[in-house]
Amino acid sequence: MIKFILNNDAIETDLPSGMVLADFIRYKECLTGTKLGCREGDCGACTILVGTRVGSEMIYESVTSCLTPLGNAENKHIVTVEGVNITGLNKIQAAMTNEGGTQCGFCTPGFIVSLCGFALSKGSKNQEEAILAIAGNICRCTGYKSIERAAEQIVKDLEGLDSNNRLNWLVEQDFLPNYFLEINDRLKNYELKEVDLSTEKPKVFVGGGTDLYVQRPGEMLPVEIVHTAQRLDLRGIWKASGRCHIGASTSTEALKQSELIQSLSPNSDHFFNLISSLQIRNMATVAGNLVNASPIGDLSVFLLALDSNIVLNDNGALRELPLKDFFQGYKTLDKREGEFVQEVNFELPRARHYFNFEKVCKRTYLDIASVNTAINIECNNHGKVLKAGLSAGGVAPVPKYLAKTSAFLVGKQISQELLEASLDLAQTEVSPISDVRGSVEYKRLLLRQLMKAHYQVLFPDLYY
Ligand SMILES: Cc1cc2nc3c(=O)[nH]c(=O)nc-3n(C[C@H](O)[C@H](O)[C@H](O)COP(=O)(O)OP(=O)(O)OC[C@H]3O[C@@H](n4cnc5c(N)ncnc54)[C@H](O)[C@@H]3O)c2cc1C
Ligand code: FES
Ligand code: FES
Repeated sequence: MIKFILNNDAIETDLPSGMVLADFIRYKECLTGTKLGCREGDCGACTILVGTRVGSEMIYESVTSCLTPLGNAENKHIVTVEGVNITGLNKIQAAMTNEGGTQCGFCTPGFIVSLCGFALSKGSKNQEEAILAIAGNICRCTGYKSIERAAEQIVKDLEGLDSNNRLNWLVEQDFLPNYFLEINDRLKNYELKEVDLSTEKPKVFVGGGTDLYVQRPGEMLPVEIVHTAQRLDLRGIWKASGRCHIGASTSTEALKQSELIQSLSPNSDHFFNLISSLQIRNMATVAGNLVNASPIGDLSVFLLALDSNIVLNDNGALRELPLKDFFQGYKTLDKREGEFVQEVNFELPRARHYFNFEKVCKRTYLDIASVNTAINIECNNHGKVLKAGLSAGGVAPVPKYLAKTSAFLVGKQISQELLEASLDLAQTEVSPISDVRGSVEYKRLLLRQLMKAHYQVLFPDLYY
């Protein structure tokens, strides 16, 4: 039995936990405001909010309901566009109407819900953040300018938001209906069921579902699912003994928001904005990115450069190995049947450190990479390299740790000649193939150029 609150209604259902939430909302609950466009997480028409009780607070995140399994709604507050209605138009609906932000209307519920998510979020209330909140929503009619104006109006309306009393303020100011104020208390009565990770019977691990529900949507209904994203002990980012530990079910957006991860680079926000949309980042887990084993997985490339270890759990027996050894061949992993990913960890930089991530896609945002690469270099005060890690995606059957090039840099003085020589060496370690994302020559050139971009960002005095 799966229990949750849908808008203002308590739900209890025995439907399969692998059913897609959008289907439950539309076809079981007849809430047809949530639209289905692509069913692949790309258009944002199906955006809903997932509210999680964290102590006395409710945290709301936007997600695409077309890729969210029903089981991930357990104990949550699920909000559809119908759930943000008040008497008359709420502030967000009014801004969209006044600015002509809607024409055919198909995309509008998704935009409204994403903008409600923006109002509810802890982030800064400026135009840039408002646009980021709706970057995963596509509109084919308006040309976006009117929606941008609506977002501008909403930012103005949010001036004076009392961040210590966010929900009350949003209700008082006609952003949200009253019932939001009671949700935290109502969710207290929901039991946190232990998610059984033992694998005696064949089961499928599902994190955010953003890979599985795109690749194998038809297979997810009949199977028994282990909802790893529901395991709170698999979420979080913490420091212990000089290492950064990341729970397997930590979302990509949580990585973006983490101060520990931000300490790697002043450009950290930008790196994560290059990964999918806010809705997908709110769902996509670290383990999902690694186990998906895509040769262009952004988090895989990011974590490889940091020389991370991965911890696997088989009914309580832990096995820790370097992430670079986890990827064995195209979509082949050093992972035994039934093992689940528990965490990833890496040594936090101690010396003077330099980290950068670069990605080139067919379009800058909301696309997967043609080639991506990350670098982590630690130097002493005299510019001698103490530690180096360089990784690249899209240039081999696996997300590739460039072992020779990384080792080549260690022990040497940073200089233009050294960095230049590393460009040639990296080329000997990769074996790209021609595909829809580019030819062999193009991908080789991209890797060279992106490595130059690393050096220009990190050592602007030496490399320009
Ligand atoms: C619109 C869209 C845009 C995207 N953009 C990007 C992008 O820019 N960059 C990028 O890298 N990816 C992108 N992705 C891919 C995807 O979001 C990521 O790979 C994501 O991290 C997958 O995580 P998940 O939790 O959703 O995986 P899921 O779909 O839940 O699972 C993926 C695999 O991991 C397994 N798994 C999950 N958790 C565990 C665990 N704890 N232990 C063992 N196995 C586990 C599952 O069984 C499955 O085999 C995009 C996807 C979509 C739909
Ligand atoms: S239907 Fe397009 S993102 Fe869900
Ligand atoms: S108003 Fe028609 S798709 Fe946006």
